[in-house]
Amino acid sequence: MKNINPTTTPSWLQLEQLAKNTPRIQDLFAQDPERFTKYHLQLEDIFVDYSKNNFDEQILKNLFNLANDVDLKSAIEAMFNGDKINFTENRSVLHVALRKPAGEKLVVDGVDVVENVHSVLNQMKDFTEQVLSGTWVGFTGKKITDVVNIGIGGSDLGPLMVTEALKPYNQGLNLHFVSNVDGTHIVETLKKCNPETTLFIIASKTFTTQETMTNAQTAKEWLLKAANGDISAIAKHFVALSTNLKAVNEFGIDPKYAFEFWDWVGGRYSLWSAIGLSISLAIGFDNFRQLLDGAYSVDEHFRSTPFEKNIPVVLALVGLWNTNFLGAQTEAILPYDQYMHRFAAYFQQGNMESNGKYVDRNGKVVNYQTGSIIWGEPGTNGQHAFYQLIHQGRVLIPCDFIAPAKSHNPIGDHHTKLMSNFFAQTEALAFGKSYETVVEELKAQGKNEQEIAALAPFKVFEGNRPSNSLLLKQVTPYTLGQLIAIYEHKIFTQGVIFNIFSFDQWGVELGKQLANKIIPELENNEQVSSHDSSTNGLINQFKAWK
Ligand code: F6P
Repeated sequence: MKNINPTTTPSWLQLEQLAKNTPRIQDLFAQDPERFTKYHLQLEDIFVDYSKNNFDEQILKNLFNLANDVDLKSAIEAMFNGDKINFTENRSVLHVALRKPAGEKLVVDGVDVVENVHSVLNQMKDFTEQVLSGTWVGFTGKKITDVVNIGIGGSDLGPLMVTEALKPYNQGLNLHFVSNVDGTHIVETLKKCNPETTLFIIASKTFTTQETMTNAQTAKEWLLKAANGDISAIAKHFVALSTNLKAVNEFGIDPKYAFEFWDWVGGRYSLWSAIGLSISLAIGFDNFRQLLDGAYSVDEHFRSTPFEKNIPVVLALVGLWNTNFLGAQTEAILPYDQYMHRFAAYFQQGNMESNGKYVDRNGKVVNYQTGSIIWGEPGTNGQHAFYQLIHQGRVLIPCDFIAPAKSHNPIGDHHTKLMSNFFAQTEALAFGKSYETVVEELKAQGKNEQEIAALAPFKVFEGNRPSNSLLLKQVTPYTLGQLIAIYEHKIFTQGVIFNIFSFDQWGVELGKQLANKIIPELENNEQVSSHDSSTNGLINQFKAWK
């Protein structure tokens, strides 16, 4: 990976100049009737319109120059070749290897990782078939009805998001996800399960994560209680997904029921690995393979398509223009698909844990914005909650609108209404409503001049708010795999340009360390005085009340 401060490149300097006179979206469309034709891309059943953004040809050209100035091309190759681009952990970054079809080869440190990947995929396939067919039975001989995935962060958010998004493909099992160390999460989940027919998946890359280990222990006790302490029941109800097979063994799970992955799979990029076992159980292995195939098609697209036609690169550059030159600090992801209700939460981790970094690849503090804040909720719900601020607030919030042309539930005219909102919102954001139009409307409502003057400013929409529209033919395992990979590579591209390391997450460590120090302080009745006055005060008040 090159080590280039992006702000010193000629393209960045040029973009800074161009940002002083940012073109308005309304004007860009008025000047160029071909704007949509020029600025949309299609990859199979995914259609991406990025025309409703504040760039003209010159800005876009400089954005592509920026990608070249930082040598994005060689960074992409470094990732795909298995170079150790996760520098601070001395690891390769190879979630792309997890999607490769059988027969391809990728040798890293003398090992063909694709062969290893497929050996675990075969293990997942067999296991999925046994559970779904009812051959796999619990300690009283009954088939499995419920699966509880116990994991957190990357070992939870991806499988949860995907199993929700692909619910129409569910093969019959009830899926549950327990992540929070708050006992409420597991207690409420276990209320819905029968120990004789419940399978627990302990999903943890490290197999040391406090939340996951605590929940796994509680689940084990719950099962053993029902099985009258018969520890042979564990083998029938617990499997593990981890890179740490030693810790899996120590927990009491037979290594035969451990599904392995490797340190070159980042937690937030792991749903394609053994961490996807809950997905495979939910939608069947063939559909899981479709998900991988969709992602693989985007990997190929990302690696080989010129930047001008490369969907992840274009989305990354337009996003970077909005954040680093126009001042947006957040990006909203707004799926118009109820099944995709966890998509924004998933990429909140994807983006913020990857690119929320304050030092560059030299370890020097950067003076430009790195990862932006990702948030969002499904449409149309968000429209009745927070869109007011997007339309008329004083902060810039670029939005990604995502919707399927075909619904899995084509009931009545629901989908027509949903989609009319999808189209209306990006139109309203970009083009707004002028003062003159508002005055005309108020006149037509019979308001007098005074009333019009008083009301009009509140009803004006300035427009000029940027958005992308991602239209899918339908949400299928394949298209969802594509969509996720598009966002993954967008994050990668931005990380390369920011000159940061996107694949470590040191920022989560301090809180973990301090929490571990605090645990023993909470276990006795003594006054605490080892912290600052605020933390001491809060802990002591907690101890007085608990
Ligand atoms: O605390 C952050 C993190 O390390 C994430 O990066 C990761 O996805 C999550 O915790 C869970 O880690 P593990 O899979 O090792 O339990």
